[in-house]
Amino acid sequence: MALRFDGARLAILDQRLLPDEERWLDANDPARMAEHIRCLAVRGAPLIGVAAALALGLYAQTAVTDDQWRAAAAHLRAARPTAVNLMNAVDRVLAAFVRGGRTEVTREAFALFHEDVLLCEQMAERGAALIDDGDGVLTHCNAGGLATVGVGTALGVIVRAWQQGKRIHVFADETRPLLQGARLTVWELARAGVPHTLITDSMASIVMREGRVKKVFVGADRVARNGDFANKVGTYGLAVTARFHDVRFYPVAPFTTVDVAAKSGRDIPIEERSADEVRGVAGSFGAVRWSPRAVGVFNPAFDVTPASLVTALVLDRAVLSRDDLAGGALDRLCEG
Ligand code: MRU
Repeated sequence: MALRFDGARLAILDQRLLPDEERWLDANDPARMAEHIRCLAVRGAPLIGVAAALALGLYAQTAVTDDQWRAAAAHLRAARPTAVNLMNAVDRVLAAFVRGGRTEVTREAFALFHEDVLLCEQMAERGAALIDDGDGVLTHCNAGGLATVGVGTALGVIVRAWQQGKRIHVFADETRPLLQGARLTVWELARAGVPHTLITDSMASIVMREGRVKKVFVGADRVARNGDFANKVGTYGLAVTARFHDVRFYPVAPFTTVDVAAKSGRDIPIEERSADEVRGVAGSFGAVRWSPRAVGVFNPAFDVTPASLVTALVLDRAVLSRDDLAGGALDRLCEG
């Protein structure tokens, strides 16, 4: 949905312009790809990992020296700090380089692409089984086909349940400050024909209290070994609200989003972005500022939800309940 690759040329859909305009950007050059990732033209944890790997796979065929290629890999790896898929994917192509040189890099990049499609399918099947006919479900940010190269993580689950014939209704959080829910999730839901309603983030508690939402499905940018996970800012508050209203809360992530080096959420670095994203809004209609130009701002792009607030973590290879997580099930999967 958001990435085009014909074996020689790589292009990404500029997600900053959606839903009004569908413009494709050239992304063959790894420095350009790093910039596309930094400015969120291409975004979503699994997608930026695969996009970086493909750019490095192509550059492996054209870089003049191995050092140039390694420098490009380091540059891409640092483009965004929280989504561990980026580091995991770049580390995999670096390992491929050590194993078999540049040809192996290209092969590994293609493998990552195909693997993400498969992982999304597995999450969609496992997660859709948790949704019942008639459910109201809520999602935050965008964790769909625009955030992966497959059907998505959390949104893939929701769309799959609809395709299975379950009559569901989706509430999409708009997701301040960059409005991924209002711009992207709603766009995807409309394309898939899934009934939906857009709400502001602060309205989630009302739809839960009124019983219009039974389950929350969200994506993840980094999952620690104990099941704590980082996702788009606002996810933690949603989990707290869901617990209060007895609403089930499910993060959905492929194993490529698990950070085997992070014991708990305390080990997850959180990206802080520009103050201007909070002072106003920037979109295809231009930038609008409504706060005083110099007001102090706190703008973490992600927050960490503790595993204790999770009903179950939906992975491609397993669904782990809160008790499973507390008993170290994910930790053991990381060892395996
Ligand atoms: O800043 P973004 O838009 O890249 O943040 C994306 C999210 O937080 C998603 O929920 C997450 O990457 C999971 S996507 C399958």
